[in-house]
Amino acid sequence: MTIWDKIYKNYQKGGLAWASLSEGIHPLFRSFLVESEFSSKSVLDIGCGMGKYLKFLQSKGFKTDGIDSSETAVEATKNLLGDGSMILCVNMFEFEIPRNKYDLIISISTIHHGTKENVKRLIREIHALIRKNGKIFITLPDLESAKKWDTFKEHENLSRGVYAPLSGPEKGLPHSFYSKEEIEIIFSIFKEVKLDLDDIGRWIIRGEK
Ligand SMILES: C[S@@+](CC[C@H](N)C(=O)[O-])C[C@H]1O[C@@H](n2cnc3c(N)ncnc32)[C@H](O)[C@@H]1O
Repeated sequence: MTIWDKIYKNYQKGGLAWASLSEGIHPLFRSFLVESEFSSKSVLDIGCGMGKYLKFLQSKGFKTDGIDSSETAVEATKNLLGDGSMILCVNMFEFEIPRNKYDLIISISTIHHGTKENVKRLIREIHALIRKNGKIFITLPDLESAKKWDTFKEHENLSRGVYAPLSGPEKGLPHSFYSKEEIEIIFSIFKEVKLDLDDIGRWIIRGEK
């Protein structure tokens, strides 16, 4: 059972709504969707959690696929979406994204759960495999803001900007944090990149292939 599987099981029993679990759809995601034009609508959510973004996108006419490493989250998403969606329990760093299948790839509060090498490789794969003119909506945590987050007050410093909390539900799990400059470099492979820092210290990154 993964750390996140335990978090979801606890949440389903009425426990703590850890991290972004109790959040609604991000206001910048709503405006991104209103402003974006799609010639076809096929989305992949990396770290789909309990499926709230995919449910929202399904209601907007998207064909919805998702991956998550928690079995509990995957089951909940499958039940929420019904037939017709591909929802897989896999590690995002090992998953082969189907080439030219997606017009939109999203990942909210997820892809920083790993080392910087793995995160960078995954972003490069997203760029390589999404359809031409495909769009991304990805969040990554800000390096400066992380210092104020309760979870990371006590942490092990694994490498520059990579921390593992020493207590709490995510104890021991590596998390990568980013400065604006790092994000600008990593996402420079995309066109029309837009960056905002939200009120809890996440970089909200939009772009296009
Ligand atoms: C903070 S939750 C966000 C879930 C969802 N995107 C949302 O906004 O509600 C982080 C998610 O990342 C998933 N996750 C963490 N590491 C992962 C990995 N290596 N591969 C796939 N999913 C992973 C967890 O299971 C969890 O669902």
